[in-house]
Amino acid sequence: MSGIHASKILPLAFFYLIYTKSFTRNPRLSNYLRAMSKFQTLRVTEIRRETADSVSLLLEPVSGDVFNFVAGQYLTLRTKIDGEYVRRSYSICSSPRNEGLRVAIKEVPVGTFSTFANRKLQVGDTLESMPPEGRFTVDTRSETSNHLAFAAGSGITPILSIVKEVLTSSDTATFTLFYVNKNTQSIMFKDELADLKDVHLERFQIFNLLTREPVDVELFSGRLDSARLTRIFESVIDPSNFDVAYLCGPEPMIMDCKSSLSNFGMSEDNIKFELFTSSAPASASVTSSTSTSTPSEDKVDVAIRLDGVTTTVSVKRDGKSILSAALDAGLDVPFSCQGGVCCTCRCKMTSGAASMEINFALEPDEVENGYVLACQSHPVGDGPFVMDFDKP
Ligand code: FES
Repeated sequence: MSGIHASKILPLAFFYLIYTKSFTRNPRLSNYLRAMSKFQTLRVTEIRRETADSVSLLLEPVSGDVFNFVAGQYLTLRTKIDGEYVRRSYSICSSPRNEGLRVAIKEVPVGTFSTFANRKLQVGDTLESMPPEGRFTVDTRSETSNHLAFAAGSGITPILSIVKEVLTSSDTATFTLFYVNKNTQSIMFKDELADLKDVHLERFQIFNLLTREPVDVELFSGRLDSARLTRIFESVIDPSNFDVAYLCGPEPMIMDCKSSLSNFGMSEDNIKFELFTSSAPASASVTSSTSTSTPSEDKVDVAIRLDGVTTTVSVKRDGKSILSAALDAGLDVPFSCQGGVCCTCRCKMTSGAASMEINFALEPDEVENGYVLACQSHPVGDGPFVMDFDKP
């Protein structure tokens, strides 16, 4: 995140004055200013092609401020494409120590942002970015010395940052990586991973699995499902020798890895995961309930508290999410994936209840304490409903 230097105090004071004075009279201006306070402008200083369908971008804040991050975090990037703002989250693949700020973007079918980044973006162009976020980060507990990871495709992006951090922050920590791809050509960061292996021969192990290309060892040819994981755990590694496991890839792989690691004795507390996308509801939660009575109206008012200001929006109980209703009303509520994965829209129901369609981001104790993902939330029961984005 950017630091605040003395030279910026006066302009900031001026900004604050305009912001507070203008809010009630000019919601459009207030939304613009609020957005400006969250997004910063980054310049693309290098574009490196990683595979035929992926690039990595080296980014530098235009203001010169430092964008500190923890290995494993992501950036929410925003730019205008064909006249519309498009925002997406991309994981940082660089080391937080000395490699600058680099994200990797794999082109996906009909992916507006990823296609733009892979085909049109040029060195010197600028993108807007929220500060680095995310909880899928390197385990820094002092007793953690043996790290294990399973990644698929571009799921390697945050894992690469974590690998580099683990290997450079300690002389004794080990890292074992299982990396699944379709074929050799689709392996992202192939050379960089090989170089890391050369430098840390004793401490870094990597096993490449290919799903659409034959390999010498049959065990590493095909999907990484429960059956294959069982064979790997019986013949290649023993999960009980590891202190933490990081999982990043599609949902079926994550679920298979989680259950297999648990079956082989690894505590769920030591398994960290990040999904690419969600494909089905994982859980439904009801929070901060003041009443569980049957809903009586089709539409209800939800008070949205954001940056110290409360705005009431009308939300259909069985319609769009509360986040969508807030965006439709012109509020600049934080969001990124809109799929219940990234946690950018985390907020708290301080009154009333909301049910979530999907929750891949919040911990059970957060849900118990009333936190919800606005992009997945719908009001349930009776109000008053208050959704607070200012709660830490
Ligand atoms: S916007 Fe990503 S979880 Fe809601």
